[in-house]
Amino acid sequence: MPNFHAKEFVEPTYPSSYGKSEFEFVAVSKRGDRLVMSHTQDCDMLLKVNKNKKGYLIKGDKITRPSQVAILQQALKDYRDLSKTETTNSNIDSKKEKSLKISPYLKSMEYFADSFKTTKDILVEVGFGSGRHLLYQAKKNPEKLVIGLEIHKPSIEQVLKQCELQNIENILVVDYDARTFLEFLNSNSVSQIFVHFPVPWDKKPHRRVISERFIDESKRALKVGGTLELRTDSDNYFEYSFSEFIKQQKVELHVNKNRDLEISSKYEDRWKRQEKDIYDITMINQEFSEDILSVGRLKFDEKLGFKEVKKRFEEVTLRGDGFFAHIEDIFEISEEEGLVRVSYGASQRNEHSYVFIKKDEVTYFPNNVLATKDNEQAHELIKGYLWNT
Ligand SMILES: C[S@@+](CC[C@H](N)C(=O)[O-])C[C@H]1O[C@@H](n2cnc3c(N)ncnc32)[C@H](O)[C@@H]1O
Repeated sequence: MPNFHAKEFVEPTYPSSYGKSEFEFVAVSKRGDRLVMSHTQDCDMLLKVNKNKKGYLIKGDKITRPSQVAILQQALKDYRDLSKTETTNSNIDSKKEKSLKISPYLKSMEYFADSFKTTKDILVEVGFGSGRHLLYQAKKNPEKLVIGLEIHKPSIEQVLKQCELQNIENILVVDYDARTFLEFLNSNSVSQIFVHFPVPWDKKPHRRVISERFIDESKRALKVGGTLELRTDSDNYFEYSFSEFIKQQKVELHVNKNRDLEISSKYEDRWKRQEKDIYDITMINQEFSEDILSVGRLKFDEKLGFKEVKKRFEEVTLRGDGFFAHIEDIFEISEEEGLVRVSYGASQRNEHSYVFIKKDEVTYFPNNVLATKDNEQAHELIKGYLWNT
C-alpha cells in the first residue's frame, strides 16, 4: 500500500489545497496519532501520520482507504509536496502511471442501498481473485449482469483494468464483505452464486464465507432453480460446508469430485499442478422466497456536543446477543469537532467507521452506515454510548 517515510515532518496549515487534493483538517488522538482529512478526485479519506523512532510514516487510514489505490497515491503525493517533506523511503512515485478516473465498473454499497435496479438475470461471484472466472462468465453471458465481490484491493484494481481493456459492459465490481452483501439483493433475483476456492480459515472459522446464514441468504436471493456453487481444494472446508448445506430444506444438493469446469481459475491451476482433489457442492434452490425490505442507511437524528463526548470518553466494548460495538478511540479537530473511531456488527464479523461530530451534527464517516441486520443493532449500542443513555 502507498506510504512514505521521513525524518522530519512539518505540519501544513489547514484547510489547504495542493495538486488534485484539498486537506481540510487534522484530528489528533490522546496518544498523539494524527489523521488528516483529504478530498481527492471526489473521494474523502483520512491520511495517517505516525511518529516512530526513525521519524514519520505517512499512509492511508485503513477504514477510509479508497478501493482504487491510485487515488490514495495521489493524495499522499499532494500531501508530501504541500508539507515540503523530504522522504527517506517511499513507494508513491511508481513509474507506471495509474488511472485516477473512478472506474464505472466499481460500485459502492451506497449504490446498492439507494439505486441498484435491474431486470437482467444476475450472477454473483464471491472472492473473484485474479478475475479469470468472473471475466469468463461476463463474456459468456452478455445478456446477464455479473456482480463480483472482493476485498483485496490489488485484485479489484486488476479486474477493473481488464474490464476496461476488454470493453466488458456487464460486470459490477464491489469492494465489500461477501458475508453481508447478499442482504442487498432482492429475493428470487439471482440465477448463480459462485464461491470458488474461498480461504479455508482453518484457525479462524468465524471468518469463513460459507455459513448457515450465508446459505440462507443465498437461497433467498436465488431464483427457483438457481444455484450456489462451492468449489474447494480443502477436505476440511468441504466437510464443514457440507454439514452447513444439509441443514437446508427445499434444496437439491449435488457433490462432485475433480469435476472439470470450462474455465480454470488461478488457484485451481495451482492445486491441479499439486495433484490435489477438488470438491464441488452445488445447491439448487427449489423454493420461492418472500420479498424483504431494502437495506437503508443508519443515521443519528439528535444533536450532540463533541466536548461532552470527549470529557467522558473511554475505550469500551458493548455487547448484545450476537452483536457488539467497540468504541475505540477519539480524535480532536477543535473544541467543537472531532471523530470517534468505532467497530461494530456481528460478533463474528465486524465493520469499522468514524462517528464525525461537527458543530452538534453527528454522521458516520466516510459513509452512512448501511442498515444490515447486525449494524442496526450495533447502531443502538453506539447511540446509547454517545448520548450516555
Ligand atoms: C483463495 S482466493 C480464490 C480466488 C479465486 N476465486 C480463484 O479461484 O482463483 C480467495 C479470495 O477471496 C477473497 N475473499 C476472502 N474473504 C472474502 C469476503 N469475506 N468477501 C469477499 N471476498 C473475500 C480473498 O481476498 C481472495 O481473493
